[in-house]
Amino acid sequence: MGNALLQSIVVVDMSTNASVEYSRAPYAAPAHPRDVSTIAILGAGRVGTALARGLVEAGFDVRVAGPGNPDQISLIVEVVAPGAQALSAADAVAGADLVIVAVPLHKIATVDPSLLNGTLVVDVMNYWEPIDGHIPRFAEAPEGTSAIVARMFPGAQVVKTLNHIGYHDIESDRREPGDVGRRALAVASDHAEAAATVMMVIDKLGFDPIYAGDLADGVVLEAGGGVFGVRLDRDGFVGLLDEGRAR
Ligand SMILES: NC(=O)c1ccc[n+]([C@@H]2O[C@H](COP(=O)([O-])OP(=O)(O)OC[C@H]3O[C@@H](n4cnc5c(N)ncnc54)[C@H](OP(=O)(O)O)[C@@H]3O)[C@@H](O)[C@H]2O)c1
Repeated sequence: MGNALLQSIVVVDMSTNASVEYSRAPYAAPAHPRDVSTIAILGAGRVGTALARGLVEAGFDVRVAGPGNPDQISLIVEVVAPGAQALSAADAVAGADLVIVAVPLHKIATVDPSLLNGTLVVDVMNYWEPIDGHIPRFAEAPEGTSAIVARMFPGAQVVKTLNHIGYHDIESDRREPGDVGRRALAVASDHAEAAATVMMVIDKLGFDPIYAGDLADGVVLEAGGGVFGVRLDRDGFVGLLDEGRAR
C-alpha cells in the first residue's frame, strides 16, 4: 500500500555528487508530537469510559460526552472515571487537543462533522456486523473503516488506534515505559504530526506505541488483520504487523 508520509531523505554532496539515503526508522513516530493536555471523548460506553479512566490517571484533563444531555452520563462518568467531566459534545470538543470518537459505527452519522472541523480525531471504532447491522460501505471497505470515517469528517485529521484492544484490557494491561512485556498498540494516520501526537498519548496511557503507516495501512488493525485483540510486546507485535502487511 502507498504511504503518503515522508519515508526517506536523500542528501547529495554537491562536490562529489555522491548521495546518501536516510530512511525513517520503521514503526517509529514519523514527526514531533504536539502538546496535549485536554482530551474529549465522544461516547460514554464501555471503551469511552475505560479510556477516560486511564487518561485521567495518566494526567490528562478528560471530558466525556454522550449523544445528548450531559446529565444522562454524569453519574457513570463520576463512578467509572472520577476526575473526568461530563459535558455536551460541543463543550467537550471546544478547545480539546484531541477528540476520541468511541460510538458504535452504526451511530457515527449522529456525530456532527462540523463539530470536528480542525480537530485531531482518534478513531477507536470497529465495524461489527452483529452490533452494527449490515452497512455495505463498512462491510466492503478494502481501505479499512477509518478511511471512510476520515471522509465523513473532512475537516479533521483522523488517527486510527485503540480499536484492537478490548476495553477491559485497557486498565489491566497498562504499564510504565520500559517495563518488560509492556503491551504494544499501533497507530495509523495520513497525518504525521497527528500520528506522533497520538503515539505520545498512547505511551502516557501505558502502552508502547508503534507507527503502522497511513490510514489505509491501518486495515491490519481491524478484525482479521492479524493484530486485532493480540496482547504482545513491541517486538512480537512488530513481527505480526510485518506479516499482516506482507499478505
Ligand atoms: N468494547 C470494546 O472492547 C471495544 C474496544 C475497542 C473498540 N471498540 C469500538 O468502539 C466503539 C464503541 O464501543 P463500545 O463497546 O464502547 O460501545 P457501547 O458500550 O455501546 O458505547 C457506545 C456509546 O456511544 C454513545 N453514543 C452514540 N452516539 C453518540 C454520539 N453521537 N455522541 C456521543 N456518544 C454517542 C452511546 O450512547 P447511547 O447508548 O445513548 O446511544 C453509548 O453510550 C465501537 O465501534 C466498538 O467497535 C470497542
